Amino acid sequence: MEKLLNLEELGSRLATVDTMIMQLVMRRMELAEQVGKYKRRKRERIFRADIEDRRIDAIRKWASVHGLNQHLAESILYALINESCKLQMVQLQEEALESDEPQSEDQWYKKLKRNLLVLTERWYTTYDASYENSYFATKAYLQYEHELLTREIQKLTDTELMLDLGCATGRIAFQFHDTFARIVGYDISQHMQTHANGLAMNRSLDSKIIFECVDLEDGIPMPDASTSFVVMNLGTASDVRSIGKVVDETLRVLKHGGRFLFSFYNRDALAYRWEFLPWETGLAASINIHRDSLDVHSRDEDSKEEIIHVYARAYTRDEVTSLFTLRGVDVSLVTYPTVSAILPHELFINQPDVQESVIAIDEALVDSSMGAYIIVSGQKV
Ligand SMILES: C[S@@+](CC[C@H](N)C(=O)[O-])C[C@H]1O[C@@H](n2cnc3c(N)ncnc32)[C@H](O)[C@@H]1O
Repeated sequence: MEKLLNLEELGSRLATVDTMIMQLVMRRMELAEQVGKYKRRKRERIFRADIEDRRIDAIRKWASVHGLNQHLAESILYALINESCKLQMVQLQEEALESDEPQSEDQWYKKLKRNLLVLTERWYTTYDASYENSYFATKAYLQYEHELLTREIQKLTDTELMLDLGCATGRIAFQFHDTFARIVGYDISQHMQTHANGLAMNRSLDSKIIFECVDLEDGIPMPDASTSFVVMNLGTASDVRSIGKVVDETLRVLKHGGRFLFSFYNRDALAYRWEFLPWETGLAASINIHRDSLDVHSRDEDSKEEIIHVYARAYTRDEVTSLFTLRGVDVSLVTYPTVSAILPHELFINQPDVQESVIAIDEALVDSSMGAYIIVSGQKV
């Protein structure tokens, strides 16, 4: 006899499906926004009845083949098309505000750097909590990265000074404060830096941990051969265009025998082989490989949702290896996570067995080159 699921279980399944439908709707609106931008640039009409009719006709046929009420399918798509047209009309109204479109690669980079400051200003108070409650793949990544960092740090014979490049609120500095005599964190964001110093003071760690506001593209303000360990984690090495200079500076400030760990976004990640995935994956941030940017959802002062683009470039394993070997330094390299970075986040909620299994799969794949991040470590000899 068929075993009936109870209403609670069925309700929870319905809630998961409803959330995934809404995520797909959000993805559709993001695409509609891109279509709107394209139409304005190419001076195309916003509403094109023939195209919308064809799309509705196709969905009606799809519904009929799959046994779904055609009127329901049609009305859902009609509502979505309406909302997309509305969004494109709003874009048109705001066109004048966006007349500062960057004309060159350099202007574009500067704009993305300004965006980073806008984002960090909105973000610094909720940053720690957002990673605490983060999506599954990002949490799994942070856990894995922490294990690697611990292993790297255990190899050190000197633990005088650690540098945390792109420290944000100082998460890494606080995790390893017991090991080092002194820690300095650098961040381009004044808001992050001030907040991090406040946290150090609250924890009575301000005598050994200090955070400074520094643009790492201008160099690392530390004397030659002064540092035991340098870390640039969570994809931050991808956030800086002149990463070669940061590597030069890292090798300059490290003592002989000092070690480093850098994390980049991986150009060859399985997650990016689709070019486009219609659902939200388990990664809190995924890179747009065509425009070298992270597209981050944020709310402005009026709580209006907007997408902010900040610079982030994905690298291949070979590119990352060469960054160091060309400077005479051998490195070890792994990539992580692979499978959790492509599956919808919703599938992991309240599923500890699934989480554990996927973590085991991802750990078995660290040498496969397919993980979302490349983590590279080595030593200055
Ligand atoms: C991925 S987040 C922070 C990672 C952080 N260490 C953590 O574990 O939470 C990257 C940080 O790098 C900072 N950043 C980006 N570009 C920078 C630059 N050119 N100089 C200094 N900091 C930079 C950003 O402001 C941001 O806080």
